[in-house]
Amino acid sequence: MNFKAIEPLEKKIRILDQRQLPLKIIYHDYDDYRDIIDSIKTLEVRGAPAIGIAGAFALAIASMAEVKTDVERLKKILIDIADEIKSARPTAVNLSWAVNRALNRAQKFDGDDIKELSQHIWDEAKSILKEDEEMCAAIGRHGAQLIQDNDTILTHCNAGALATGGIGTALAVMYMAKAQGKKFKVYSDETRPLLQGARLTCWELMQEGIDVTLICDNMAGFLMQQGKISCVILGADRIAKNGDFANKIGTYGVAVLAKAHGIPFYVAAPTSTFDENTSSGKDIPIEERSPEEVTNWGGAPTAPNGVKVYSPAFDITPVELVTAFITDKGIIPGKRK
Ligand code: MRU
Repeated sequence: MNFKAIEPLEKKIRILDQRQLPLKIIYHDYDDYRDIIDSIKTLEVRGAPAIGIAGAFALAIASMAEVKTDVERLKKILIDIADEIKSARPTAVNLSWAVNRALNRAQKFDGDDIKELSQHIWDEAKSILKEDEEMCAAIGRHGAQLIQDNDTILTHCNAGALATGGIGTALAVMYMAKAQGKKFKVYSDETRPLLQGARLTCWELMQEGIDVTLICDNMAGFLMQQGKISCVILGADRIAKNGDFANKIGTYGVAVLAKAHGIPFYVAAPTSTFDENTSSGKDIPIEERSPEEVTNWGGAPTAPNGVKVYSPAFDITPVELVTAFITDKGIIPGKRK
């Protein structure tokens, strides 16, 4: 992989600007946590695990700026800053999971040196990044068993290296299967409105020499009807206790189509995406994005001025439509009959 979505540097992080892909490969360095919040909100960095990692580093960076205070006061300030970071995007549980982990590390610190406290938070963020890398590789290893020679896999949105600290979740399965010498093809849904499938998944898979074909979202059903899809593998932003999960808008439709055509439907996700505190899909908060993301592209309008827009960024797929979850701990069956 010759790119990294996020990379820690000295007291700052480097983020690959995914808003500009595939046209431009531009990195920005951030040493102010407010800029990292903006980066998360505007989808410069995106994908559930990646925004968690960015959020944890944002907290560490925020603590470094607060030099004119004492440890106890800083711990209090960090609670508010953590809330600010967590509210940047509500659906992916990885963001609050990672920020809480970094915050807990700070709250447990019992020294009186501010620099040391910051170092602890920074180290926690680095552990989150490293563990994510390992979880991605493990997901890839487990999932690759499901891929046969000549399979054609459909994916939606981007659950690749761009969305994580490692080689991705859904795409990790493909990278690992390729490394094992398996021959397969991928169809990537373009993923309206922000085209993560077209701009990011196709770019990433092409970089890695995987045979990928781009389709519009509304073509998936026809391909399934034509017998062109062997299985669906995609990512998740939050998996509730009962197995219902949130993922990029359009996932639910793909799951219904997969069931109608008897095609296995797999969800690849790390432990950090499983949320024990959310009992079912209806409790998952769904982010709504701005109308302009639907009515404009590249600065030009694609709809009449003033049209009403509804733009949920994610949808909920019930566990009854899931064949299995591919996790870092192994393959867990879903409830699809
Ligand atoms: O709005 P995005 O681009 O952050 O949405 C990303 C997705 O829906 C991914 O499928 C999900 O975060 C899993 S990434 C491993």
